[in-house]
Amino acid sequence: MTNKPSDAAARPAPSTSPSPQRFLTGITTTGTPHLGNYVGSIRPSVAASTGAGAESFYFLADYHALIKCDEPARIQQSTLEIAASWLAAGLDPERVTFYRQSDIPEITELTWLLTCVTAKGVLNRAHAYKASVDKNTAAGNDPDADVSAGLFMYPVLMGADILMFKAHHVPVGRDQIQHIEMARDMGQRFNHLYGEHFVLPQALIEESVALLPGLDGRKMSKSYDNTIPLFTPREQLKKLIAGIVTDSRAPGEPKETEGSALFQIYQAFASEQETAALRQAYNDGIGWGDAKQILFERIDQEVAPMRAQYQALMKDPARIETILQAGADKARQLAAPFLRELRHAVGLRKLGAQASAAPKEKAAKASLPVFKQYREADGKFHFKLVDTQGQLLLQSYGFDAPKEAAQAIGLLQTQGASALDGLREKLQPLPGITAAALDSALQQLVDARP
Ligand code: TRP
Repeated sequence: MTNKPSDAAARPAPSTSPSPQRFLTGITTTGTPHLGNYVGSIRPSVAASTGAGAESFYFLADYHALIKCDEPARIQQSTLEIAASWLAAGLDPERVTFYRQSDIPEITELTWLLTCVTAKGVLNRAHAYKASVDKNTAAGNDPDADVSAGLFMYPVLMGADILMFKAHHVPVGRDQIQHIEMARDMGQRFNHLYGEHFVLPQALIEESVALLPGLDGRKMSKSYDNTIPLFTPREQLKKLIAGIVTDSRAPGEPKETEGSALFQIYQAFASEQETAALRQAYNDGIGWGDAKQILFERIDQEVAPMRAQYQALMKDPARIETILQAGADKARQLAAPFLRELRHAVGLRKLGAQASAAPKEKAAKASLPVFKQYREADGKFHFKLVDTQGQLLLQSYGFDAPKEAAQAIGLLQTQGASALDGLREKLQPLPGITAAALDSALQQLVDARP
């Protein structure tokens, strides 16, 4: 598997970094896994979890499922099917921390702590919530008609999932990038207020995996009702594959691979040679029936052994439950002490026990950007603002007297970004520094004033 990071992410380098890189992802328990889920998520995630230097946390996001689904039986059934599918696909629960979100009460508790550092305005802009509001508005309804507070809070719960386990990389689909960015912001805000507790996560987008088309040629998705369930019985798989859209070219006529759903699905399962051979067969005018037969056999070859495993697991829910409980134990061994640390950090403390808080509060101070004043060879007095990573954010021209430089710093420290305009002439342009980065650094300093 080649993991290509999103625009928002830097390439993970497990081999060169001293501490293991932690990968975490959640699967919402509302449906039955289909071939698109397998190719896009299950297969690459299981493969990634076997690599050296990676620690994987995969979990069943059943709290998230409640936001979308109010059928208890479906939630339970989907949880079982998804757990069985991942295990059947080779997930090793000894290697991977594999758990059910709702078995970790610390996650809901952390959700509240994060709720309190999340701007409501940021949640207003979350894609899923905003889409509902826009739809209502377009229909002339109340903007929040049929919108639950759960949908609104979805990103905060997801932030808690990720931040709780200090994940570095979160493999997700493109539609989830915004959520990871929000989690990052929550972590950053919390760290700024209460000291360095959270690792800031990055989205990891699987670019090498093309979206798998469904039966009708559109993206395979439950919402289009065009899926092929991953572990559908062999005969059923054959029937479904027979239903994939093709054009009306007769046997003997050359076929186009471009835009052929059948070809794309084949490619997701076949080796390069196999794919080349089918491409040749398309050119040579293979009949659609024969092409479907080839596709069916190729998928079944990969899926059949897993299907047998799946069926055995589905007959033994108690075994899956045991695996999930063991996973929850592992996860809670990290979550419980971490949450104690976080509670303490925010001041939810045993009375009479605040002495040990000092280092954390100091850490918060130490993680602020700093102004530095210095004298150049020309005899003038300069200052600069440097963030905690050593990145230069502001650089002044020379002042004649140290007092003038200090006054300018004082203005920036008390007024933040609004002092910038008045000082424009005294500040050097710094290409590559965005106004937003500078504003937020200055705001941190304003906020940190006693
Ligand atoms: N929202 C994710 C999705 O719909 C599922 C999810 C929940 C998740 N919590 C997560 C993914 C944490 C990654 C990390 O796909």
